[in-house]
Amino acid sequence: MFENQTVIITGAGRGIGAAAARLFAQHGARVVVNDLDAGPCEAVVAEIEAAGGTALAAPGDVTDPAFPDHLMQAAVDAYGTINVLVNNAGFTWDGMLHKMSDEQWQRILDVHATAPFRMIRAVVPYMREPAKAELAAGGGFKEPRCIINVSSTSGLHGKAGQVNYATAKMGIVGLTKTVAREWGRFGIRCNAVAFGFIDTRLTQPKEDGDTMTVGGHEVSLGIPGAMRQMAFPMIPLGRPATPEEAAGGILLMASPFAAYITGHTLEVTGGAGI
Ligand SMILES: NC(=O)c1ccc[n+]([C@@H]2O[C@H](COP(=O)([O-])OP(=O)(O)OC[C@H]3O[C@@H](n4cnc5c(N)ncnc54)[C@H](O)[C@@H]3O)[C@@H](O)[C@H]2O)c1
Repeated sequence: MFENQTVIITGAGRGIGAAAARLFAQHGARVVVNDLDAGPCEAVVAEIEAAGGTALAAPGDVTDPAFPDHLMQAAVDAYGTINVLVNNAGFTWDGMLHKMSDEQWQRILDVHATAPFRMIRAVVPYMREPAKAELAAGGGFKEPRCIINVSSTSGLHGKAGQVNYATAKMGIVGLTKTVAREWGRFGIRCNAVAFGFIDTRLTQPKEDGDTMTVGGHEVSLGIPGAMRQMAFPMIPLGRPATPEEAAGGILLMASPFAAYITGHTLEVTGGAGI
């Protein structure tokens, strides 16, 4: 389904991004695998290559203002074109509003809203410009092109303890709709996928103690174990999704079956959003 297409996925060293990288590769795409550190990127690339697919490791921090241009260049140097950009990288740094620091607020906005904006701006020479030239030449667009932004039910509905994350994840819905309006005439689709409860380290019991270092702070990931159990009955399908099921939503929106869908936010929630 994605034969001869280049797909860039940020935060693809683990979780949903890694599952999407494997799935895109299974369906013929050349995948550019980004994450903060080289190790997880290279592990996903090795898995894809062992299965006969094509992938490139492109480690780097998406919040570094210089990184988006570098990432696009690496993709084009390796594969010539960029067809799909998936803005997936992120983490949570939860806290109730009355205790939230400016840094906690800003870092989450940086990774979930500013970085996707910069990524989309950096892809202009490789997506918008060629499409614009093809439009001027007549004869239709030569390549499929689209952007997928990852949102969350926390953004769509709000969530106690996630004022920073919810703001960013709703912001990316506005970013998505605006890009869809600006770039629709160039045949470039832009959609969001809002996940509910997906089984990754972001939803593991907090008590398990998975952490991430952010600006010198040890940020604890996950959600309290008691809240995890309370969440399941609220999901019509009664369980969290696997990362592969979540990745399916991303591929669906990037696929030819979504050729006339743009500016949409697809809820992949097991029904939790209804
Ligand atoms: N797991 C869920 O239930 C859930 C629900 C809604 C939305 N999401 C969103 O899905 C996306 C993927 O999350 P996941 O659940 O797979 O978590 P994950 O922690 O398994 O994967 C996220 C990846 O992003 C990487 N990352 C973080 N900051 C980065 C940066 N600055 N630069 C490059 N890479 C960076 C991490 O290293 C990690 O490998 C995130 O945007 C998350 O907010 C997840």
